[in-house]
Amino acid sequence: MEKETGLNLLISREEIDNIVMSLAVRIEKDYHDKNPLVICILKGSFVFTSDLVRHLGINLEVEFIRTSSYGLGTQSCGQVKLVSDTVTDIRDRHVIIIEDIIDTGITTSFVFDYLKGRNPASLRICSLLSKPSRRKVNITIDYPGLDIPDKFVVGYGLDCAEKYRNLPEIYFIEEEETCQQD
Ligand code: PRP
Repeated sequence: MEKETGLNLLISREEIDNIVMSLAVRIEKDYHDKNPLVICILKGSFVFTSDLVRHLGINLEVEFIRTSSYGLGTQSCGQVKLVSDTVTDIRDRHVIIIEDIIDTGITTSFVFDYLKGRNPASLRICSLLSKPSRRKVNITIDYPGLDIPDKFVVGYGLDCAEKYRNLPEIYFIEEEETCQQD
């Protein structure tokens, strides 16, 4: 994919790999005998989840939930929509929510509360990235990857108006830039 101007490298492929591997080590240790259900929050987490599970040498299952809150802009509209749900019954399962990024925390908090209501045996959160300065709701990230500054980031599953999800690295976009759909 041709890189466009306005994209600034924030996290290299090597740094991402190191973060993913260190998270996998921690999760493996905690869940080696638990057959966890790893729930990927679509769409943004699909790349991170696929890398993470390939570093987990334990029995596990993968499920998907799709939410949406950002629309085509760079600011969350603050209202989370559940676009599609898991098929697997999560009751009495050890569930790990996989997020690409926690910004305001509204999406993860919504998903956490929703899943909690379905009585899993345990429920934890793993997020590759976090923007603590943007938080509007309290979230405990059990498996945190990297804290980043308040910049709009794309690549490695993260989009801007659906673009850039396929970039292997993570870039930030300048504030004044708007995301256009082609
Ligand atoms: C992004 C991201 C997180 C959420 C974080 O998803 O993947 O799920 O926003 O923001 P928050 O902490 O402020 O709620 P988005 O709603 O853009 O959908 P997408 O994953 O399909 O791009």
